[in-house]
Amino acid sequence: MHGARSSAVQLLLLSCWCAAAAGYPFKTPQDLDVTPRVTVLSSGLQGCRRFHSSAVNYSSMLLEADSERLYVGARGAAFALNASDISASSALTIEWEASHEEKSRCLLKGKDNKTECFNHIRFLQRFNSTHLYMCGTNAFSPLCAYVDEERFVISSQPEEGKDKCPYSPTTGYTALIIDQQMYSASQYDFRSFPDIRRNSPSPTLKTEDAPTRWLNEADFVGSALVRESFGSDGGDDDKIYFFFTEKSQEQTTTYSHSRVARVARVCKGDRGGLLTLQKRWTSFLKTRLTCSLPEYDFHFNMLRSVFVTPGDTPQDTRFYGIFGLEWKNVKASAVCRFSLSEVQEAFQGPYMENQDSGSKWKEYTGKIPNPRPGTCITDALRARGINVSTSLPDDVLDFVRRHPLMSRQVQPSDGRPLLFRRTTDYTRMAVRVFEGLDGQMYHILYMGTDDGWLHKAVEVNGKLHIIEELQLFEDPQPVNSLLISEKQMSVYVGSPTAVVQLPLSSCRRYTSCYDCIFSRDPDCGWDGAECVDVMTHSNRSTLIQDIQHGSMGCKQAQNGVAQRSRSVRVGDDALLQCELSSNLATPVWTREGSEVQGYDLNSGFRRGTDGLLIIEARQDQSGTYTCHSLENNVRVAIVSYNVTVRLDLPPPPPVEPDRDSFATPPVATERAASERPTLPVVANVLPSSKLLSPRSTEVVYLSLITILGGLCVVLTVVLVYVGFCLRVGQRGKYSLRAAAAAYPTSKRPSKTRKQHRGSAHMELQTISSHCNGNGLCNGVAKMHNGGLEDGGLLQIVPGEAYTSPSREPPPPAPPLPPTPQTPSQECDFPSGLSATLPSVLRRMHGNSYVLLRQSDSENTSPLCHSFSEELNKILEKRKHTLLLPRPDESSV
Ligand SMILES: *[C@@H]1O[C@H](CO)[C@@H](O)[C@H](O)[C@H]1NC(C)=O
Ligand SMILES: *[C@@H]1O[C@H](CO)[C@@H](O)[C@H](O)[C@H]1NC(C)=O
Ligand SMILES: *[C@@H]1O[C@H](CO)[C@@H](O)[C@H](O)[C@H]1NC(C)=O
Ligand SMILES: *[C@@H]1O[C@H](CO)[C@@H](O)[C@H](O)[C@H]1NC(C)=O
Ligand SMILES: *[C@@H]1O[C@H](CO)[C@@H](O)[C@H](O)[C@H]1NC(C)=O
Ligand SMILES: *[C@@H]1O[C@H](CO)[C@@H](O)[C@H](O)[C@H]1NC(C)=O
Ligand SMILES: *[C@@H]1O[C@H](CO)[C@@H](O)[C@H](O)[C@H]1NC(C)=O
Repeated sequence: MHGARSSAVQLLLLSCWCAAAAGYPFKTPQDLDVTPRVTVLSSGLQGCRRFHSSAVNYSSMLLEADSERLYVGARGAAFALNASDISASSALTIEWEASHEEKSRCLLKGKDNKTECFNHIRFLQRFNSTHLYMCGTNAFSPLCAYVDEERFVISSQPEEGKDKCPYSPTTGYTALIIDQQMYSASQYDFRSFPDIRRNSPSPTLKTEDAPTRWLNEADFVGSALVRESFGSDGGDDDKIYFFFTEKSQEQTTTYSHSRVARVARVCKGDRGGLLTLQKRWTSFLKTRLTCSLPEYDFHFNMLRSVFVTPGDTPQDTRFYGIFGLEWKNVKASAVCRFSLSEVQEAFQGPYMENQDSGSKWKEYTGKIPNPRPGTCITDALRARGINVSTSLPDDVLDFVRRHPLMSRQVQPSDGRPLLFRRTTDYTRMAVRVFEGLDGQMYHILYMGTDDGWLHKAVEVNGKLHIIEELQLFEDPQPVNSLLISEKQMSVYVGSPTAVVQLPLSSCRRYTSCYDCIFSRDPDCGWDGAECVDVMTHSNRSTLIQDIQHGSMGCKQAQNGVAQRSRSVRVGDDALLQCELSSNLATPVWTREGSEVQGYDLNSGFRRGTDGLLIIEARQDQSGTYTCHSLENNVRVAIVSYNVTVRLDLPPPPPVEPDRDSFATPPVATERAASERPTLPVVANVLPSSKLLSPRSTEVVYLSLITILGGLCVVLTVVLVYVGFCLRVGQRGKYSLRAAAAAYPTSKRPSKTRKQHRGSAHMELQTISSHCNGNGLCNGVAKMHNGGLEDGGLLQIVPGEAYTSPSREPPPPAPPLPPTPQTPSQECDFPSGLSATLPSVLRRMHGNSYVLLRQSDSENTSPLCHSFSEELNKILEKRKHTLLLPRPDESSV
């Protein structure tokens, strides 16, 4: 009884939080959160090739458009791999480890000899037609070296790298070789200031530190050359853009942040000043990149990665950026796209200044010297006799020196992010452009996460649709580098332990016409018989594809429906499994053509994410049940069950009070375990007082519930009030925190979940975030045999249900009907059931379940919380349950 009581209390608290969440003044941007359509575990990856060696930390990669070789820089080694198959044994290797003396000096500097005191190769690029150039941290004493490409050996004595490469393997860093000159940006040594440098032979230039520091604790993530001289009628110069996050300097009225995302640029022809700004850039300007969801006060200030897509002209260049929140313990990512012309406009706009060094920066409104400070040398200047930056007047250079920051911020192209995603930290990204069968050019993004997944997304009308999420590594690890090659039709991913090569698309995964078009993958089209790769198909005009809507082109008749039959004895429960391959699809069940309502308990049905449960079957429940997948407003039949409810053996006498005595739904059907320990418990929202059979406790309960209910109301009011006050007062910060707390602790693997575990606060908040979709908390309470008798607490663990099944094999499946194979054969796992895991919680805010877990129940490997597995276990234990040995084999 204790257990039942606690669980009742827990459920009450849960509903309390739901109510609180519903009344909470902040919307959570849940509706914006993009769910990947298909989840593929590492065991189901197709065409995946891997490269491992004794080296670790594959952090730099180089693959040129027409190259056959993929160059990879790792810790203590560099590799030249066969780009068409990186796992081929033909890899060439350069061993380049720091010497023992350097390692011991590194140790003396107080560095970690397990991670830092190695030669991490951080830079690897082409130098000239015959040589590459690479730089390594060399145990905190950086070195650079030329590599003979043909033989793949270091061709001369390594040279000093202190001005080109950071000392540490983790410091933000970006560098380019342009016309055999190296442009690099980093905080090279931890004692030095961050710096954007151009190294000799032509004049070495740096950023300025005094009187105005141009960069403040900048963390660089990327750089790009834009050939703006090309086709310029004003004789413009080429420019190099740098992307980073730095400590904020400016004070704005609406919000303040400690760090902001920036873009800075310098002109390639810069020679520095003659007296003022000698050996300094004369063309350095920077401005802020914003990526936010203003209606939620979400400001993504941390730039994690950029990718530059060239356009037909330099003006059409676009920058894609992955942004995160400043709060390190909050996982969230946004993708914003910026156009070069917007950035250029910002650099043409007003400057910022700070009068005295302590204060914040404000817009400069005074006179701007001529020629305009910070511009490149153009024809207009040449006409005035200024053909090099050293001829720029002193007042201009002095202005440049004090005004590196522009006032105008750069907004993303559509004013808002293309993608927002909670619970995912993207680390790297690459973008390609591909023409769809509708003639439109689509941007396809590949994004790596900090826990080893790869997301493929397509941009449709300013929004990203995530086509698939692929688990690249069984052990969660960050994606450190990412490259795509159209020629090799591959995407390459570097991580701490391996390099992975995957095809750009896996159309064969989609087994039906609908599956193929629902995917909205520009690479895939239906040819009448199978989903094929558009690129390899000779006759594009015969293919079906609908990227815009993901719904048109297929005929229902083309879709095969699996037929199964199932016999159930009267009074037994039966689960009709139907696992949808798409996380975006909703299951719809029909019986003899009319929809089965699965929410009403009296209906005798219960709908789950992976099946339909017939509860205590009655004879009139016989018939043909069809599971449909509803996606993009199209209903597609997936599987049909011919269910026969047989009478042959009378069911055991009911031990339970009549189900009908329960209040109308939504209602919980929790029962005391002592009464009927193995009954599957399917809770909907609130425990009703009917749960408690002995009269005496009922009173206690009712009063307890009343009190808690009262508390709940008070709490809600307080929350609403506090929220309101804070919103008025301190908008930005508070709502961010609120939202932070509202993130589900983890839908996916382990790491976060562990961090958040034990934080009741977070967990409850999380629940609330699942509740605000439709205001309802549907729940499945899970009880283990006799578990409640042990006084085990029912604990609400959202996110527990979804775990990385890859980390440990799922427990052996109970001897139950084989799972009907989903259209997607990707996620085959030994039990055939684990494929259900990824989708269970993901669809929680739709119409599914909150799983309740007993806190003390075994080690509860949080692996197996799929509805079907739970039920299977429970059903298995119900002695009077009769299941045909292999019902599906009697399929019609
Ligand atoms: C790379 O691998 C492909 C396919 O395995 C093979 O045909 C090709 O000859 C290899 N190239 C080199 C340079 O080894
Ligand atoms: C790191 O240094 C410690 C001494 O400070 C030493 O005991 C340990 O063996 C070293 N580890 C490696 C991997 O060199
Ligand atoms: C490329 O640079 C290397 C290193 O400076 C030099 O030895 C080599 O001759 C150069 N190759 C060409 C084709 O210029
Ligand atoms: C700049 O112009 C002067 C004369 O106008 C000329 O002598 C000089 O060579 C030019 N310098 C460059 C780098 O073009
Ligand atoms: C290098 O790899 C190891 C694991 O193989 C990881 O623990 C470490 O953080 C990595 N270091 C960097 C700089 O990526
Ligand atoms: C492509 O298919 C269309 C329609 O079936 C047909 O008219 C056309 O001749 C085909 N083209 C080629 C090159 O096979
Ligand atoms: C369903 O099964 C029953 C008995 O096995 C059979 O009589 C009936 O024809 C089947 N119905 C369909 C639609 O297959």
